[in-house]
Amino acid sequence: MNSPDGFGIRIAGVGSAVPEKVLTNADFEKMVDTTDEWIVQRTGIRERRVVDPEREGTFTLACDALRGALEDAKLAASDLDLIILGTVTGEMTCPSVACRVADALGAAPAGAFDVGAACCGFVYSINIADSLIRCGRYRTIGVIGADTMSTITDYTDRTLSILFGDAAGAVVVARDDDPSLGCLYQTMQADAALWESLYIPRREQDIPDHDRDNPIRLGCLRMRGREIFKFAVVKMREVIEEALEATGLSACQISRFICHQSNLRIIDSTRQKLGLPPEKFYINIDTHGNSSAGSVGLCFDQLWRAGEVKRGDYVMFVAIGGGLTWSTSVWKL
Ligand code: ACO
Repeated sequence: MNSPDGFGIRIAGVGSAVPEKVLTNADFEKMVDTTDEWIVQRTGIRERRVVDPEREGTFTLACDALRGALEDAKLAASDLDLIILGTVTGEMTCPSVACRVADALGAAPAGAFDVGAACCGFVYSINIADSLIRCGRYRTIGVIGADTMSTITDYTDRTLSILFGDAAGAVVVARDDDPSLGCLYQTMQADAALWESLYIPRREQDIPDHDRDNPIRLGCLRMRGREIFKFAVVKMREVIEEALEATGLSACQISRFICHQSNLRIIDSTRQKLGLPPEKFYINIDTHGNSSAGSVGLCFDQLWRAGEVKRGDYVMFVAIGGGLTWSTSVWKL
């Protein structure tokens, strides 16, 4: 499975960052009409991390995650040619969060831009990085998925608010002489006919008809959870099967499936339909909730640091999110 380009791509370093503050299900029992039992049964979530908005945000988490990945790679920010950052919770529309990260870490004149693909932000970004290195124009790219969903969550909405946490995950990917390393297969797809299932309205006129009579907080996430659930349960299995077929790898050869953590039942149902044991699918939704673009990179960093995935392993990144978007990326590490 050697690259036709004569070179490969190495994941040179991995990092992540989460805020210190923990919001438990018991905290939610005091805020909305819910119970720990309902949340655990329906989602698998027990607690999640949230930023202190006075001193933290998507920008600070992204900086910390990429700093960690650069340290792990033993590279300096000045070695980066580009920073690509998936997020839907950037503090400012302009400049991009990626530009501010580049400035804070000293990466100039590296190019920098944000990718808006919701929960697929990290997987879309690593796929773009892979393609840009493959085309020969860039050698070393910082990839970040970072979101602070707590900053766009309506904490009076009990169905939505219990799901989300804040996190960032990052990798440094670099051109490598070993042609067997790198991304073997990737997809980035979307069906925007389903956008109304998950959106963040900024203006009254953007609210879709089905939500017009509901009390909407502009700037806060709106979600039709049951619709997304049904879509994600089918789509996650489909895209994993497609990726296995396209790469010729068996599920046993994949060291870990690293899936976006949106609901434990979505991941468990996918795994069971594929007939795979629990240890094949990494889970941290119990302690971190759904951190949107932060989740896949955070999972990967936890596995990497624990030595549960290592050089030579195959891993598959999978995400489904707002848009609706979905994305896969199969790597030999
Ligand atoms: N506590 C107690 N009861 C609740 C709560 C709560 N926190 N939230 C909803 N309920 C009630 C509802 O009011 C409803 O009551 P009713 O039957 O009397 O009307 C009942 O529980 C069932 O509600 P559903 O919405 O059908 O519950 P469901 O089992 O679908 O679980 C959930 C809801 C957890 C949101 C689920 O649909 C889900 O996880 N969907 C996917 C969400 C997702 O992945 N979103 C993000 C994807 S994109 C991204 O990550 C940015």
